[in-house]
Amino acid sequence: MGEPIGIIGGTGPLGTGLALRLAAAGLEVQLGSRDPQRAGEAARRLNSLLDGGVAAVTGGRNDEVADRALVLVALPYDAVRATLQELARSLAGKIVVSTAVPMSFASGRPEPVQLEAGSAAQELAELCPDSRVVGAFQTVAAGQLLDLRLQLDEDVLVGGDDRQARKEVATLVERIEGLRAVESGPLATCRYAEGLTPLLLRLNRLHHAQTGIRITGL
Ligand SMILES: NC(=O)c1ccc[n+]([C@@H]2O[C@H](COP(=O)([O-])OP(=O)(O)OC[C@H]3O[C@@H](n4cnc5c(N)ncnc54)[C@H](OP(=O)(O)O)[C@@H]3O)[C@@H](O)[C@H]2O)c1
Repeated sequence: MGEPIGIIGGTGPLGTGLALRLAAAGLEVQLGSRDPQRAGEAARRLNSLLDGGVAAVTGGRNDEVADRALVLVALPYDAVRATLQELARSLAGKIVVSTAVPMSFASGRPEPVQLEAGSAAQELAELCPDSRVVGAFQTVAAGQLLDLRLQLDEDVLVGGDDRQARKEVATLVERIEGLRAVESGPLATCRYAEGLTPLLLRLNRLHHAQTGIRITGL
């Protein structure tokens, strides 16, 4: 199966949803957590949902997961800085994928938060200057990923300054059935993907739907 994909903060809805879909596609995944027991429990739960109960998902501490060659960061935006400051050295040279969407609910509705760095993905790149940072999955709803009966049918914008890393992440995205990767260019383009998510959440409320994005004309 090859080297497992690591997911830091992997026990939440997005981490477990991505792990489930990637494992269903035949990849090995290691979920990271502050508490390895919690990661182990989440991994067992996911394996029980997979055909034949294959043990494709394992659990570990976030620092163990940071040793993987390709690491998805599925932490809440507010937890990224403190967690990655400690892991930046292990993540040097690795492909690190930012999924975070900085949002506020000050008005009772989801609003994008403007960041000085431009985007959460660019902040992550500042925290891990020796990593190959790529942004992806910001517009994909975890609830859709977690229900294997649902056929996915949407695009995922993939932005990053390292073209080879971007291509590898795009290939990973497309291992998940029903997702198409659309490379958006440099890491600075991640602000657009991150900014779309509050809109999608508003659309979900307004239309009682579960929305995603599709780029036409490609
Ligand atoms: N949920 C979605 O549909 C969705 C969609 C697109 C993008 N995103 C983005 O994906 C990221 C993850 O979303 P999520 O909903 O899965 O997040 P979440 O459930 O809030 O958090 C994910 C995991 O992060 C760990 N964590 C929580 N607080 C922490 C802290 N203070 N320090 C260190 N670790 C902490 C927890 O794992 P342990 O307790 O096991 O350590 C938790 O299970 C977010 O940045 C979000 O913006 C989410």
